[in-house]
Amino acid sequence: MTAPVIAIDGPSGSGKGTIARRVAEALGFHLLDSGALYRLTAISAKNNDIELTDAAAVASIARNLAVRFDSKEDGSERIWLGDEDVTREVRMESTGAGASAVAAIPEVREALLERQRAFARPPGLVADGRDMGTHVFPSALVKIFLTASAEERARRRHKQLIDKGMDVTLAALSRDIEDRDRRDSERSVAPLKPAKDARILDSSGQSIEAVTQTVLDWVRDL
Ligand code: DC
Repeated sequence: MTAPVIAIDGPSGSGKGTIARRVAEALGFHLLDSGALYRLTAISAKNNDIELTDAAAVASIARNLAVRFDSKEDGSERIWLGDEDVTREVRMESTGAGASAVAAIPEVREALLERQRAFARPPGLVADGRDMGTHVFPSALVKIFLTASAEERARRRHKQLIDKGMDVTLAALSRDIEDRDRRDSERSVAPLKPAKDARILDSSGQSIEAVTQTVLDWVRDL
């Protein structure tokens, strides 16, 4: 490993994305949003009319993703697939469901492994996902498993999507999160579960600032 890695794993809506970004900013580290790679694979497969059941074809898409991350003038993230701006599509619930399906394909996970590991560059990396601590970065410096109650996760996700102008109901989202949790936890390869040496952090009822501070305290205690 070329640089220290902080692995932040957990289920949908646990706040991983937000916390990972804050921690990376505070430490001046790079950021890996590994879920975006699975989401982009699902989008690219759809754009190329590839069935998600065709493991070899989807893995080939994953291996050849022409993805670029940059930021808009206001500092918010922007994601490109080739020369197409897919920032909005990446965050859609339908894309999340497609991502969860392609993420269950072992060949896809294998295809994305080295791409993810390449993000570990000096001065360090904060990696957000489901299997950062268990598979992608097994010797990460700090491993955190971030959780929150299912109700709170659905509420947060709902607010996030409404703020982005997307039209979703809380009930539909709760069902969606439940389905996704089940699929991500029960798949045979790299299922969602804490690494043996992960610290569990329950963010229910805690502010973003408080959770970020806990993670930073853990990192600085080393
Ligand atoms: O974190 P997210 O919602 O962007 O992730 C989208 C899907 O991708 C999620 O349902 C499971 C999958 N995923 C994964 O299997 N492994 C990762 N490291 C990250 C995401």
